[in-house]
Amino acid sequence: MGQESQLTPRPGSRQSGQSCPSESSGHNTTPDIAAPGHTLPPDVIADLRTDHAGEVGAVCIYAGVLWASRDADVRAFAIRHLATEQAHLLHISEWLPANQHTHLLPVWRLAGWLTGALPALAGPRATYITIEAVERFVDQHYAQQIARLRSEPHLSALRRTLLDCQRDEVHHRDEAAAAQGSGQRGLITRAWCALVDAGSRAAVYVCRYV
Ligand SMILES: [Fe+2]
Ligand SMILES: [Fe+2]
Repeated sequence: MGQESQLTPRPGSRQSGQSCPSESSGHNTTPDIAAPGHTLPPDVIADLRTDHAGEVGAVCIYAGVLWASRDADVRAFAIRHLATEQAHLLHISEWLPANQHTHLLPVWRLAGWLTGALPALAGPRATYITIEAVERFVDQHYAQQIARLRSEPHLSALRRTLLDCQRDEVHHRDEAAAAQGSGQRGLITRAWCALVDAGSRAAVYVCRYV
């Protein structure tokens, strides 16, 4: 389900394991801009590990939706989003060495798939509400990282990657919110959304370390 291919570092980038110099040579004191393949600080790697796990989970969410739903609109929605999440996964994989992936990817694949499949069995509105809850969390998650990177000019290319992903997640959130229509949410729906949010937070916490 989740794509985990490690892309070849871009031309001119250093191979993983080499240090990113803090300053360029000569009299120019502007820090080098880190690129995919450069060694990154441990806290940034930990953040990227959570991003990678999240994008694997996102791919599986939409795979779960497509497994469970026969609704044409839901399926078109899921196919579009799935393509975007696969692109996100590739972009994050460029930055994160494969040996830094979380060891719990099978858990997140299953959790993601269930997060997509279960509401899709219940119907389109449950699916859209779930996607809105997931993407609302992901937007906040990326926003926190992007804010931390604001003070790290040498990581501006990584920040740009995260901004691009966040923009797509916001679009996914808003599209899901618009598609679900109006109406009260019942107790089960509210409890499910709370579970999705709590599960996402727990996954991020665990992935920073495992
Ligand atoms: Fe994504
Ligand atoms: Fe998304």
